[in-house]
Amino acid sequence: MPDRHDLVSWPISALSFGGDYNPEQWSPEVVAEDMRLMKRAGVNLVTLGVFSWVRYEPRDGQFDFSWLDAMLDLLHENDVRVDLATPTAAVPMWLHRLHPEILPQDEFGHPLAPGGRLGWCPSSPVFREYSLRVVERLAEHVSGHPAVAMWHVSNELGGGNARCHCPVSRDHFQHWVRERYGSIDAVNAAWGMSFWGNTYSSFEEITTPAGKTAHNPGQLLDFERFSSDALLEQYRAERAVLKRHTPAVPVTTNFMVGLGPDVVDYSRWADEMDIVANDHYTYGPDPLRHQELAFSADRMRGMSPGRPWMLMEHAAGAASWHPINQPKKRGELARHALSHVARGSDSVMFFQWRASVFGTEQFHSAMVPHAGENSRMFSDVVALGDSVAKLSDVAGSEVAGVQVALLHDNEAGWAVKSGLKPVNRPSYADAARAYHHAFFDRAVTTDVVAPWTDLHRYRLVVVPGLFLITPEHAKAITDYANAGGTVIVTWFSGIVDEHNTVLAGGYPGAFRELLGVRGEEFHPLTTDERVALDNGWSGHRWSELLDVSGDGDTEVVARYDGGDLHGRPAITKRRVGAGWAWYVSTDLDDSDLDALLERVIEESGVTPVAEVSPGVEAVRRTSASGSYLFLINHSSEEGWASVAGTDLLSGIEHADRVTLAPGSVAVIEER
Ligand code: GLA
Ligand code: GLA
Ligand code: GLA
Repeated sequence: MPDRHDLVSWPISALSFGGDYNPEQWSPEVVAEDMRLMKRAGVNLVTLGVFSWVRYEPRDGQFDFSWLDAMLDLLHENDVRVDLATPTAAVPMWLHRLHPEILPQDEFGHPLAPGGRLGWCPSSPVFREYSLRVVERLAEHVSGHPAVAMWHVSNELGGGNARCHCPVSRDHFQHWVRERYGSIDAVNAAWGMSFWGNTYSSFEEITTPAGKTAHNPGQLLDFERFSSDALLEQYRAERAVLKRHTPAVPVTTNFMVGLGPDVVDYSRWADEMDIVANDHYTYGPDPLRHQELAFSADRMRGMSPGRPWMLMEHAAGAASWHPINQPKKRGELARHALSHVARGSDSVMFFQWRASVFGTEQFHSAMVPHAGENSRMFSDVVALGDSVAKLSDVAGSEVAGVQVALLHDNEAGWAVKSGLKPVNRPSYADAARAYHHAFFDRAVTTDVVAPWTDLHRYRLVVVPGLFLITPEHAKAITDYANAGGTVIVTWFSGIVDEHNTVLAGGYPGAFRELLGVRGEEFHPLTTDERVALDNGWSGHRWSELLDVSGDGDTEVVARYDGGDLHGRPAITKRRVGAGWAWYVSTDLDDSDLDALLERVIEESGVTPVAEVSPGVEAVRRTSASGSYLFLINHSSEEGWASVAGTDLLSGIEHADRVTLAPGSVAVIEER
């Protein structure tokens, strides 16, 4: 059976370059100027119509697509293709007035106010009917228009409406729970409702975890799953309409993938997308924002194995939702955009094309700033568009030579946040981010993947704080080690099953046998506390009362030194079949984590992508026709890389070594 993804075509044969385009905010003169400036910048794709519902349907049931027709024709005449949005993020005010019950309700039963966006309950049949009606009319109307290259369903589904507690959602949740468990006894068992005597006697007693009380961790986790599924139903319903009218046009929606856990379960949504697309915004004050970007991009690649993905939105400069919104530093525009491309994006798209003068986001940066074309920003955008055009051969290639996988799962992140834990308000992906950064610094590319990914192609798999794991996925990790792989498991992984129930008998229940260790107590640390290890290393955040178990085949690599845990194992290593399993029971301080990974990288045969100087990001993409080494110098020093080939950006040939000016980017087509 052909993969559904093979049946649809990528919107642009080269890399796509452009952004969200909201011409309804502008006069015809400005729109004419936009066409001229898009040409200058090399824009070939725009996302149109994200907030245009009221343009298409100004009154209930009265449709008028003349504005859209004119825009599609104009963009087509100007060789700009269109990623056409369904307008369902933007509920018309008339619909709010007619049906106030579609507004989502927070945990205290307060409805969102009309205005803003995504003002709808994912379970609302009323909203579903109105939204599918406009999608139907839109799809029918534009079917066959040559400008329409792809569909963009709604916008950032869940951004504001991800958790609804209205009566309709409550009934839908009851239904979802019934479908999942079949009987109320099974629900009581799965959620452990005998605790505090919360046992249900019928499905009608089940509520969403609303209001002010301590809800059960099992219920909380299932409500996250339900909420993700409820939004996915809306996506699927819209997609079904689009596929009926325009079967050959790819359909996606823009994810908000960061460190996770995300508002919805993107890894489980990814298969529903013809092309997986992301919106990514860096946080200016984060000194390691380029590495956070790399983590998100590597997650995106994990969700689209073997295929490129799309950067659907990022910022040309400052955002406007942080307390202080700083513009990007000099050169970051190109470094950030091309880092996404290096990591598998076949597109560089922005929010948005032209900066709005009014509305909530009137100070959000754009490709054309308030200052207009005569600005540093627009010049930089034009230069970036030129670079993106020079990289057209990269389109369709794959990120190559990835030998390390890092497991990541929203469900694990949700579970760790559901209910009270040894450390409350935990940040799920901290350990993952620390390991990812250490690999980044060694020019080792890492796929950030879901636990159901086939691991056998990797030399090393890191399981960082993967709190929840199913028996099936734990077994896959064990099989991988047995077959010769190396696994590093870090603290608070494999603690609960899919119901958020502790696997008793010694921690970490799911990995105890694989690792040959048995933990009895968690000893979390306060922010400033450190634990010393007997090999001279130190750890923070966490320690635990641990022992080796099994046949005495577990090697203790380092022990706790001093304090209550003195002499107890802290880091262990065990031979498992043809492979190895490491356990790291604390967060090692940076240089010690680097030392650990230096050893594991060497022992497991992992090789860097290229030899580079510190601060240079290196990622390779390859296809049948070429090999492209992306080199991004994030440091303020001159950098270098050992490589032979031609820099596609500058045209310069390099015999064996590239020098990189501070902050510069090179993309070497390798010999
Ligand atoms: C109180 C309650 C117990 C339990 C403990 C521990 O003493 O009576 O039911 O909750 O706190 O938190
Ligand atoms: C679940 C299953 C996996 C996979 C994913 C994605 O977690 O366990 O095998 O199917 O969902 O749908
Ligand atoms: C998101 C949205 C855009 C815009 C940007 C910038 O990504 O999809 O509509 O709001 O953020 O804030």
